[in-house]
Formats: sequence, C-alpha cells, structure tokens
Amino acid sequence: MKISVSILKEKDRLNEVINSLQNTSCDFIHLDIMDSTFTSNTSFSLEELNNIANNKKYDVHIMSTNLDYQINEAIKLNPELITFHLEATKDINKYINLIKSHDIKVGLAINPKTRLWKIKKYLNLVDLVLVMSVVPGMGGQKFIPSTIKKIKKLKSKQSGFLISVDGGINNETIRELKEYIDIAVSGSYITDSDNYEEKIASLKK
Ligand code: DX5
Ligand code: ZN
Repeated sequence: MKISVSILKEKDRLNEVINSLQNTSCDFIHLDIMDSTFTSNTSFSLEELNNIANNKKYDVHIMSTNLDYQINEAIKLNPELITFHLEATKDINKYINLIKSHDIKVGLAINPKTRLWKIKKYLNLVDLVLVMSVVPGMGGQKFIPSTIKKIKKLKSKQSGFLISVDGGINNETIRELKEYIDIAVSGSYITDSDNYEEKIASLKK
C-alpha cells in the first residue's frame, strides 16, 4: 500500500510542507483542487505549485466541474495521476481520453453517497478508482464507516485499476482497509503532526 499525503490544510505554507515531505517515505503528494464549482470551498490553485521544487510524484484530485481548465492546468505539472469526479460531468469519456492522451494515469473519484454501479462501465478505462470516505470539501473530517463495505465490494471487482481511499484516514481507520486498497490518501493526520515520517510509517505498518 502506498501513501499519498494531502496538503490541503496547509495551503498557506505549501512550500514549507512540500519541502518537508521530500525527506519522508511518502509515495505521492496529493493536491486537492477546489474552485467552488463542485464544493463550497476553494483550495490553493495548481498555478501556485509551478514554482515549488518537488521530487515526489503529484497525485492531483480535482473537485471541480470546470474540468477543461483544471485538467489542463494539472497536465502542466506532469503528475503521476489526475483524478476527477464521476459526479462532476457527463463527459466522463472525454476527460478520461484527455488525461490518457498526455500519458498520465487517470482516476475516477466517487462521493460517499455514490453507488458503485455508477462507475461500472468505466472500470476498464481508468487506472484508479478513488473512493471518498468524507464529503469532499475540507480536510480533517471524520471517516464515514460505510466506506469499508463499499471498498470490499469494489475489491471483488478489481481488474486493471488501483483502489484508493481519501478522507479521515489515520492509523485507526486504515486498519480495516489496508488489505483492500493500493493507495491511502491522508492529510491532517500527517500534516497536523510535527513528525511527518512517524505518521506515514504508522500508516504503512
Ligand atoms: C477532501 C479531500 C481530502 C482530504 C484529506 O475534500 O479530498 O483529500 O483533504 O484530508 P484528511 O486526511 O484530513 O481527511
Ligand atoms: Zn483528496
């Protein structure tokens, strides 16, 4: 299982936090992009990342309906992965193809209330399914327990795609999920601490 660290709560000190993550064992830096079209909040923008030095791979999670703009901004960062929401557009195939045409892995995210059958027809087209375990919008929320059942069910259908979970992940909530997921996204559990590596290691353990 890999760890992707969400830096959403640290939007006022992105440079410092990204710099601190360079020396940890995290696998990805998770960039939560919100522009108030899909969530009520806004986050930092992708442009802000352009001038920050980073040796880790970026994993971009776009929570926006403004997908032409945000996906094109994300492509400029040459991330490992770009994920957008099933609920954000009717043009799912178009955006899957746009991301793939840049040789970037594509993820499809689903909200806690979205049922699995809705992504069924895209499962053989995407590289990853991101199961939200909180309602998108902010870091530091409580993990929604029904996610566990959903992920187990998704695991039973797993073929060529990876499974990721995002929201309220800490050393307790990870326990029941570990054997079913490929990437755990964790934000405040790691970034609220002054010892990032200790928290990352506790998730991997
Ligand atoms: C929620 C974001 C998550 C979240 C993770 O809208 O997509 O990535 O910020 O942060 P924690 O781990 O604090 O829930
Ligand atoms: Zn996220």
